[in-house]
Amino acid sequence: MREKVIYIVGNWKMYCSPSEASLLVQRLTDAITHVPADMKVVLCPPSLDITTVRHELEGNDRFLLGAQNAYPKDEGAFTGEISVAMLKGLVDYLIVGHSERRHGFGERDGLIAQKVAAARRNKITPILCVGETHEERLSGHAKIVVADQLETGLALMTPEEVKRVIIAYEPVWAIGTGDSATPEDAKDMFSYMRRWLTTAYSQKVSQAVPFLYGGSVTPENAHAFLALVSCNGLLVGGASVNYQSFASIVSKVDD
Ligand code: PGA
Repeated sequence: MREKVIYIVGNWKMYCSPSEASLLVQRLTDAITHVPADMKVVLCPPSLDITTVRHELEGNDRFLLGAQNAYPKDEGAFTGEISVAMLKGLVDYLIVGHSERRHGFGERDGLIAQKVAAARRNKITPILCVGETHEERLSGHAKIVVADQLETGLALMTPEEVKRVIIAYEPVWAIGTGDSATPEDAKDMFSYMRRWLTTAYSQKVSQAVPFLYGGSVTPENAHAFLALVSCNGLLVGGASVNYQSFASIVSKVDD
């Protein structure tokens, strides 16, 4: 048994109708026949597919379910939104602060902090995504940007609650580009984030928080990230909707 839990999270983004989602789960179930107790494989389909996937997963303890987005208010006149509270009992994880939401939909820090807090309130583990743009990296500001995203994203959480957050480092320039960060880039940011959490909270809090890497993860590069002592897993986008690629990435955990 490993000393740490490894998370492989699949962010299906805006792919798969409910029937396609069912089929993908069936294919994944055939391809991934065993998931050890110290590993969590989390499927994050579009919101529309959540109940279908949940139904498909009945009696199947290999996969856990996550949501890609939700609104922090419990209910109200918010046309087109679904609330975190509505997801309670349906999903175990919620992706928050993904760069496609920060940059594509203009989600600001305050809203992200509320989503993180709403997830905790509803007993859903938030996966808080942080990461710098290409320009921010080139100008030497990557760490300042990530520190700011950590500070604002966790602003409404108590130290005890922070222990139950997962942080995904996803450099914006690596997402969906085929141009992943190097394992050294990830290692460097993980150790910075670990120090930041120690200073902001305590060593105990810092050591409890799992760090994932995300951004153009493939079966070819997955192992190099998983081999990092400081890496607790991967957030996989494009490669997670191809069952063969995703199964291959999952198989790298035990390589
Ligand atoms: P990608 O996406 O693997 O397609 O780069 C990562 C993500 O969306 O989290």
